[in-house]
Amino acid sequence: MLYLTREEERMLGGEEGPAVAKSMELLVALGEVFGAERLVPVESAHISGVSYKNLGDAGLDFLEEQAGLGARARVRATLNPAGMDLDLWREMGVPEAFAEKQLRVIQAFEGMGVELTCTCTPYLVGHVPRPGSQVAWAESSAVAFSNSVLGARTNRESGPTSIASAVTGRAALYGYRLEESRLPGKVVEVEAELGTRLEYSALGYLTGELLGTTVPYFKGIENPGLESLKALGAACATSGGISLYHIEGVTSEVARIPSEALRGLERFSVEGADLAEAASALSSGVDDPVVCLGCPHCSLEELREAAGLLRGKTLRRRLWVFTSRGVHREAERRGYVAAVEEAGGRVLRDTCMVVAPLREMGWREAATNSYKCAQYLSDMGIAVRLGTVAELVEAAAG
Ligand code: F3S
Repeated sequence: MLYLTREEERMLGGEEGPAVAKSMELLVALGEVFGAERLVPVESAHISGVSYKNLGDAGLDFLEEQAGLGARARVRATLNPAGMDLDLWREMGVPEAFAEKQLRVIQAFEGMGVELTCTCTPYLVGHVPRPGSQVAWAESSAVAFSNSVLGARTNRESGPTSIASAVTGRAALYGYRLEESRLPGKVVEVEAELGTRLEYSALGYLTGELLGTTVPYFKGIENPGLESLKALGAACATSGGISLYHIEGVTSEVARIPSEALRGLERFSVEGADLAEAASALSSGVDDPVVCLGCPHCSLEELREAAGLLRGKTLRRRLWVFTSRGVHREAERRGYVAAVEEAGGRVLRDTCMVVAPLREMGWREAATNSYKCAQYLSDMGIAVRLGTVAELVEAAAG
């Protein structure tokens, strides 16, 4: 039986308007399904389901209805990528009819008071939850980063549940919101040398395949940078449903894990050859791929690296880099955007290669350094090659 406070009863009863009541109904139903005893206040939300490609007309109608009913975010709420760069969509080749619907989606969110960040890395543009805080984040890569690296607590929310949490400031207390669900379930001993982000992405992909939704405890990973952690988590969440990982000596909650919790856990070891095998399983033959970087959205450091590799080169193939507006602004100031674009590449904001309507835009082949991107593009029938950023830039410059 789910316990509600007086205030929550009032919200459910419609005293704070129909949008709040509808959102409470959803959260209560979810809590009952998962056996939650109560709701918990959340400090922020990150909302997915923004691209019109995924929403379709039914999703757009739902959002416009919510906005029309007076849905307003009462906690900080940021937005995942949309289906296009909100300014440069014509240049991307996005069809007019798609753009018109996408702009209506954005307008609906704006009406709800959601920050139009349009990025899957909100934590790179100032949305950084406190360790131990309860949040309601959707977007599997952001969920993994938030839980594992930042130490905040969220389940893998959906678009509708993250909106409901933004509107009510509540979430049902179950899953990764509870201390006991955050303990590791299996140990992954990393014997492979991890140098590039591609290797971190491969390790995540392999781990997701091996563990499914079980929380991994990685041993043998030393000094991964922020970018490697985001690549690892994104891939873990792609092939499996991993929303939280621990890395010995690195991630925020490891010190709190009692040593007896690790005793007796099943162990896997991952070697260099396993990573290479993972890459060959996802790569197919491509002749003229569009190189796409930025899954998850590029950090400033990744743009600096791309700019360094591209400076003075002339690209023979298209190369698109995806990032957030916040990171783009700073990258522009530092000359990274100019370096990429002078070589013939494009740096786009608000969107990514997975949520843009690529097939309608005529894409058939792509190359990337992200297993998440490779998996999703393959699922869309786009042939993919995986490589490190340096390899992909080299191949694009020919
Ligand atoms: Fe982000 Fe798009 Fe990849 S939302 S994690 S860049 S699939």
